[in-house]
Amino acid sequence: MASSSSSLFRCFLHFFFFIISQVQAANLPFHPRDVLPLLPRQVSWPVLNSLNSPVDLLPSFVGSVSSSNRIVNWKGACFYENTAWVEFHNKTGSEFGGGTLHIKVSYPHSWTCMDLYVFATPYRVTWDYYFLSREHTLEIKEWQDKAEYEYVKNRGISIFLMQAGMLGTLQALWDVFPLFTNTGWGENSNIGFLEKHMGATFEERPQPWFTNISVDDVHSGDFLAISKIRGRWGGFETLEKWVSGAYAGHTAVCLKDSEGKLWIGESGHENEKGEDIIAIVPWDEWWDFELNKDDSNPHIAYLPLHPDVRAKFNETAAWEYALSMAGKPYGYHNMIFSWIDTIGGNYPPPLDAHLLQL
Ligand SMILES: *[C@@H]1O[C@H](CO)[C@@H](O)[C@H](O)[C@H]1NC(C)=O
Ligand SMILES: *[C@@H]1O[C@H](CO)[C@@H](O)[C@H](O)[C@H]1NC(C)=O
Ligand SMILES: *[C@@H]1O[C@H](CO)[C@@H](O)[C@H](O)[C@H]1NC(C)=O
Repeated sequence: MASSSSSLFRCFLHFFFFIISQVQAANLPFHPRDVLPLLPRQVSWPVLNSLNSPVDLLPSFVGSVSSSNRIVNWKGACFYENTAWVEFHNKTGSEFGGGTLHIKVSYPHSWTCMDLYVFATPYRVTWDYYFLSREHTLEIKEWQDKAEYEYVKNRGISIFLMQAGMLGTLQALWDVFPLFTNTGWGENSNIGFLEKHMGATFEERPQPWFTNISVDDVHSGDFLAISKIRGRWGGFETLEKWVSGAYAGHTAVCLKDSEGKLWIGESGHENEKGEDIIAIVPWDEWWDFELNKDDSNPHIAYLPLHPDVRAKFNETAAWEYALSMAGKPYGYHNMIFSWIDTIGGNYPPPLDAHLLQL
């Protein structure tokens, strides 16, 4: 494989399997094929047309391996007998050490076939392909942090089998990749995608590009509609906007405490471990991040409640709810489910719930 196509392939896999592994991490009854309609239309069409069945595109989940006593055995597309296990080691002498995934493939049905695998934890996605009958290893020098180490110990590394024939097909997905890169190119791709597929218009405002908000003018219940157009969240938001038909990809709510201090409640807040959680953040910290540190170049609209509605807003109840949700995980799996708000007619055409049940 040429290096450019291999890097774009990796990029796609990252997108695809990150969703799947996130969903699995949340232990939800969710099948990878459910992700297919979330791919942009002009991408999923060529892919679907070149396959016998949409299901061909989808990886199959083989199992999770965690340590030498949890070996899984399955039949691949090429190799009929396969075994895998994980061995923990500490070759680098780091705090949590690393691991080796052993995968032994045997009895290929022909000399030229190969099996393509994707290995995922919620913290990494890698892939490899095999066409020789023997034991292969995949080296993970170091677990990213305690969370990944614990995850692999308890839940294991997820293994997905892909159809090798789909390699070429994946090139049709070229269009989506730039949406996720944190560059001006990625940003323009997001804007281009929204203009083309949603008829959105983007007019550059005169400077300054931010206004000074006085905390005294903000009240509990006021709403912030946020649109991120760059980087990791930018790409996902673009897909989310396209699927849901909304122009904001993220929302937050203002809450004032009894001392008049302003707080922002938001989902998808990244904590120091890089996890996305629901958080209540002091206004100054939130605003400083959005103005100076948010690399997704967010567009933020401040929408105060109408005075009549504000009068009905129960601040005590809002705080109780916000505090009960603070710290809970909120990631791609919530986002995916938020797209699907009816059982039937919610998928971009031509996919519908019946086709998905295939
Ligand atoms: C790995 O080795 C280092 C240095 O000897 C030690 O501090 C660390 O606790 C070890 N980690 C594990 C997971 O055994
Ligand atoms: C915001 O406040 C700063 C400092 O008080 C001032 O320099 C700036 O012009 C203000 N910006 C706007 C858009 O009002
Ligand atoms: C506001 O919410 C609190 C807590 O849920 C409740 O006890 C109170 O009765 C509510 N107030 C009004 C005016 O509904």
